[in-house]
This record gives sequence, structure tokens and C-alpha cells, in this order.
Amino acid sequence: MLPFHYDTSISIRFGPGVSRDIGDVIDAMACRRILVVTDPNVRRIEPVARVFETLAVDRETEFFDAVHPNPTARLIEQGAEVARVFDPDVIVGVGGGSALDCAKGINFLLTNGGRIEDYQGFGKASAPMLLAVGIPTTAGTGSEAQSYALISKSDTHEKMACGDRKARFELVLLDPELIATTPSEVRASTGLDAIAHALESYVTRTRNRISRMLSREAWHLLNGAFERYHADPSDVGAAGEMLVGAHLAGAAIEASMLGAAHACANPLTARFDIAHGAAVALMLPHVMAHNARNDPSLYEGLRVPADAIEERVVALRSLAGLPERLEACGVGQKDLSVLANEAHAQWTGAHNPFVLSVEEYETLYAVAL
Ligand SMILES: [Fe+2]
Repeated sequence: MLPFHYDTSISIRFGPGVSRDIGDVIDAMACRRILVVTDPNVRRIEPVARVFETLAVDRETEFFDAVHPNPTARLIEQGAEVARVFDPDVIVGVGGGSALDCAKGINFLLTNGGRIEDYQGFGKASAPMLLAVGIPTTAGTGSEAQSYALISKSDTHEKMACGDRKARFELVLLDPELIATTPSEVRASTGLDAIAHALESYVTRTRNRISRMLSREAWHLLNGAFERYHADPSDVGAAGEMLVGAHLAGAAIEASMLGAAHACANPLTARFDIAHGAAVALMLPHVMAHNARNDPSLYEGLRVPADAIEERVVALRSLAGLPERLEACGVGQKDLSVLANEAHAQWTGAHNPFVLSVEEYETLYAVAL
């Protein structure tokens, strides 16, 4: 067994309706001025609106609700400007991974200054950061479990991972009621993304006994609940299993990072505007097959063989109505070389159990074409 360092500090509350405790949570932190970071669609979800009403009672609140998918450095600067004027004592991120990443990104700039590019990597913030609460409204990224904010460069859209232990949420509220009205296409792509997080983090070079435990439990929860949640998001039991599964998968990433399916997905999202989860789901079975060919024991411990898991991922992708081939997303043979070079440059690829060459990435894209 290889040496490892596992470090966690996030307080987690799970349960239907738990987000309604937000007022007590903020009071217990002795905070009064709340910056809410969210996106305009999330604000319209009824139980989320109730959270915001609760927050506003006897407290000062300010909203930064301009969050969009794949948040950019420019967006973080805009949010930090709002934060500087308002001068909050706590940040509450409410939404999918983009909103939660934005909340962390704004926290970096508000408390430590400079540009978000300055925090690429890990541990670059020298000053303390503000307390923050994370409330996910999708069962997907697991960003609420992580020290990292994924922010795209404004010009090239290259993803930067900006991490610091201090950027973690102090508290996370996992409320299945908040994901009971998530639209079908969002349930599909975020659910497959969470599954990819579980399966990729299970085999990375940096995996350890604890990250594997998290990945394995995440896979079992997500695999068991995906169909029920996809058919009926108001099934609170299924929604809860998806939410906890996605969180555990996010915690596994925090401990052991991601692999080549995410390296392949990022250029597809940047160049062809394919939703992150859909792009990951397109590439994951091919990456798993590549990994399992090189080491058939890699996926042992998940109860079924790797090829059965690949088939299961393909079946769930199809059931969710996500694209099955790159060609269906506008990708052509002529694009593969550029995509392969960009995938090869992604930091997540370095954690895949087998580091792929540019040629190997091109082969994976060709098989998925
Ligand atoms: Fe992902």
C-alpha cells in the first residue's frame, strides 16, 4: 500500500428540507452579512427561493447571480467587485458546480487580492479566507466537497484548477428537495458526470484506500439510483442517493483526482460546446476499456467486471438521451488531431493510471467518433 495523506474538514448535513436550517446555520457562525453566489435559473426554484427568504430575515444579503456554465476569470472578477462593495462576512454558494466554483473563486480574490490566475495550483492563498457555505442544487460535480475551483481563462477557455485548503466550504447542506425539479437534460449530464467521477477517481495513480472507499460507495449509490431519479426527480429517496453519491464522488476527487475521460472532455466542451457531463460520458467507456486492457485488475472491488461497467455506462447514457458518438455533436475526423493535443495538455490526464500519448488520445477520439 502506498503512503497517502487524507485531509477533510467539511461539516455535512444531509436530509430532505435541511436547507431550511440555513438561518440557524448562519447565526451559529455569528455572521450577519451574506453574499449569495448563484445563477438566475436557480433563483427561480421554489425551495431555493425559500432559502433566500429565510436568509434575508434580520440579516443583510447581497446577490451575485450572474453565474453561467464553465465560469470564466472575467466572471470571478465581476463577482469579486460586488463582494468588495458589499463587504460580506460569509459567502453562500447555491447552485451547480459553476456557482459553487464561483463562490470559491470570489473568495480567493476578495480575501487575497490579485487575479484568479494567481491561484492556479494549490495553496497559493496566504491570507485567511471567508467562511463559506455550499448548497448544491444538482447531483453532479461534487464541487461542494472540494478545495478547488475550476475556472476557465477568459480568452482561451482553458480550465484552471485553483485550490486551497482554506477555499473549502465550512459547511455543506445536502437537501434532496433542492434537486426535485432539475430538468431532464441537466439530470442526465450531471448524473453521468458524477458516475464518471466515481469511476475515474477509483483508478487514478493517486488513489488510496480512503479515496477508493469513497469512489466505490459513490458508484454503488449513483448506479443504483440513476434510473429512478432520471424517471422521477421528485422521488426523494433516489434524489438523496444521487446527491450523496455525487458528494462522495467529489470527495474522492479531492483525495485522488480524475483521469483521461475528463482530459478528453474538456477540449470537447471548449471547442464544441458539449455539456461537460455529456462530453465525459462520451469518452468514459473508451477510457475505461483502455485502462482495463493495460491492467485488468484496476476495477476489481466494484463487484462486476470492467467491461460490464462500461456497458452499464453506455446503457445509462442512452437511457438519459445523451449523445452516443462525437459525430452527432459536430466533431469530424479533421478535428481529432487538435483535440488530442489539447487533451494531452490537460492536467487531469497526468492522474490517469496510464498516462496517454497524443497518439493514444487521438485513437480514443477516433473510436468515439
Ligand atoms: Fe466532471
